[in-house]
Amino acid sequence: MKVTVVGAGAVGATTADNIARKELCEELVLLDIKEGLAEGKAIDMMQTCTLLGFDTKVTGSTNDYAKTKGSNVVVITSGIPRKPGMTREELIGINAGIVKGVTQNILQHSPDAIIIVISNPMDTMTFLALQSSGLPKERVIGMGGILDSSRFKYYLSTAIGCSAADLQAVVIGGHGDTTMIPLTRLATYNGTPVSNILNEEQLKKIAADTMVGGATLTGLLGTSAWYAPGATAAALVETIVRDEKKLIPCCVSLNGEYGQKDICLGVPVVVGKNGWEKIIDFKLNEEEQAAFNKSAEAVRTMNNVLGTLNV
Ligand code: 2OP
Repeated sequence: MKVTVVGAGAVGATTADNIARKELCEELVLLDIKEGLAEGKAIDMMQTCTLLGFDTKVTGSTNDYAKTKGSNVVVITSGIPRKPGMTREELIGINAGIVKGVTQNILQHSPDAIIIVISNPMDTMTFLALQSSGLPKERVIGMGGILDSSRFKYYLSTAIGCSAADLQAVVIGGHGDTTMIPLTRLATYNGTPVSNILNEEQLKKIAADTMVGGATLTGLLGTSAWYAPGATAAALVETIVRDEKKLIPCCVSLNGEYGQKDICLGVPVVVGKNGWEKIIDFKLNEEEQAAFNKSAEAVRTMNNVLGTLNV
């Protein structure tokens, strides 16, 4: 099994480090455009292998896509991260051209790869990667909902005072500060609805905190988060390479599901060795469906911006 991570910045390097430690592949290539960065981080990771006990072979490359040849899975993290006060959507002008170029370079050497998109604005970058790759839709997956759901569970666990592992909680819709939809109604604590434990005001605050979970960390860190994004990207790679068929909220191409088509948006999907396999209908209520439609409208507006950019 071979995996490539494009972008050796904080998110990409953390993704690669998690993949290596979990031994999700025999060969892991970390690629970046900045001279020496990927090579240096790869060597640094390899120098932990005797201490952390992994056999993954991590190599770095400065923009030589030939080194990525035959990758089964490619994670695209390249592009600039946001600064405090910025929205993910504001990155589109710079990141769209980068993601399109990376997608095309990757496919020249790994035509059978499954592509995971992390670069922001992720929903639109996923749509762009799908459009520009011509790949079957099942092989292009945007990573956002699994990260947002992990933050949702964190905030629920701190409010309840429980283990986050005992929580089931899903975020769907866009991966934007105002477009994501924490499905509070369906969240459970080992089978009991969280609304049996937390009151309306607490649940509203947790949903609001989740929606700006990324922005909150950007305000504290001065740049986008990397530990949770890197760990969730590796978890997504794991579900693919181990054919786990986990049900995960991911940004995928919709063709009528959840009432939307010709868009990539976060919905619960089963993920396995062929990419995403099927979309599961959570039977949204009227309020949730209205929020999903509003989220779709906002993401479609961003997708339309692609047409105005020379990408
Ligand atoms: C985040 O939410 C990077 O968009 C990613 O942290």
